[in-house]
Amino acid sequence: MSEYKNATNAIHAGVRQTQEQENSEAIFTTSSFAYGSAAEAAAKFGGDEDGNIYSRFTNPTVEMFEKRLAVMEKGEAAIATASGMAALMTMAYSLLKQGDRVVCSRNIFGSSIKFFNAYTVKFGVEVIYVDATDYDAWEDAINANTRLCYFETPSNPLYEVVDVERVSALAHAKGALLCVDTVLATPALQNPLTQGADIVMQSATKFIDGQGRSLGGALISSQEIVEHFVAFMRSAGPTMSPFNAWILLNGLETLELRMKAHSKNALQLAQYLEQHAKVKKVNYGGLPSHKSHELAKKQQKDFGGLLSFELEGGKEAAWGFIDRVQLMSITGNLGDTKTLVTHPATTTHGRLSPDEKEAAGIADGLVRISVGIEDISDIIEDVEQALNGI
Ligand SMILES: Cc1ncc(COP(=O)(O)O)c(C=O)c1O
Repeated sequence: MSEYKNATNAIHAGVRQTQEQENSEAIFTTSSFAYGSAAEAAAKFGGDEDGNIYSRFTNPTVEMFEKRLAVMEKGEAAIATASGMAALMTMAYSLLKQGDRVVCSRNIFGSSIKFFNAYTVKFGVEVIYVDATDYDAWEDAINANTRLCYFETPSNPLYEVVDVERVSALAHAKGALLCVDTVLATPALQNPLTQGADIVMQSATKFIDGQGRSLGGALISSQEIVEHFVAFMRSAGPTMSPFNAWILLNGLETLELRMKAHSKNALQLAQYLEQHAKVKKVNYGGLPSHKSHELAKKQQKDFGGLLSFELEGGKEAAWGFIDRVQLMSITGNLGDTKTLVTHPATTTHGRLSPDEKEAAGIADGLVRISVGIEDISDIIEDVEQALNGI
């Protein structure tokens, strides 16, 4: 592993060069690779010789992205996937079998809940949801059948902060693995593998891309665990395309700089919202009033770009606010240089049943803002005029 700091790794780690000695990473747009002989093909397919076989599971551009991300996350290896959800599926189907239990935070991304409830359970895997900041609840729920514990920190959209060290100790005591989704923190702000997690899951679609151009995901872990994921990828194929890998490699180069700018703007917007009379509650770990502010300070380098807030007046007030914004884009994405606004209850968490929404804490009056890197005074002005209108 490289000895460089992460800002340097983000630009240099994983680079591979062709004979041309290109100065920007090459995009290998090829589905397969050619060999000099039948024996060479057989040796590569059989794993006796290293080398690329077929881009469903190995491709040089994708591999550069995997190597760079693994170094930045302080992991031994990484596998890139077609999206963040493809990463969750790859992990679940590679590691779980009938009779296993997953203990999961109830406060996670809507599609992750839907994936567990609709597609994991039907293969005979039990999924138990817990309040992720209640460590007694984790301890009670993790039993001898538990193979996997899973949570987001910080969580989307409620900014719940979960203690990685504490849950990893509880999981490991019963022989379970811990996977942490740190899509909101990114490797620029937190490295859960150094805090006791076994696997990190990323949606590269978000801050890693940074400009809303492409989908991608990744799992970062030990070499041994990543080999299980590679075997699944070879058979199932939720693969990242070389072109997306190239975009995301470039995204990693500016990640640290962007996360600093996102964090600075988000804190200022959170402070503004907190004192506004129409705002019931602001969810942002950078505010000293946040219940896990100290923990966020301890396990993160900064607080990131995502916050949410609750308005009095439920869905009508939330939609009234969203329909009045002028600078912000109304979209379900997050992590863009542009400021983005979302109504989770009817978009990202819209497929959840009323009970599932309630369990996940998604209120009708909740508004999520992914704070971009525009001038903060323009962002606050837009928020102010939209709040004044409702
Ligand atoms: C926290 C979190 N995890 C996972 C995902 C899924 O990522 P993708 O959209 O790349 O499939 C998202 C998407 O919004 C997310 O916010």
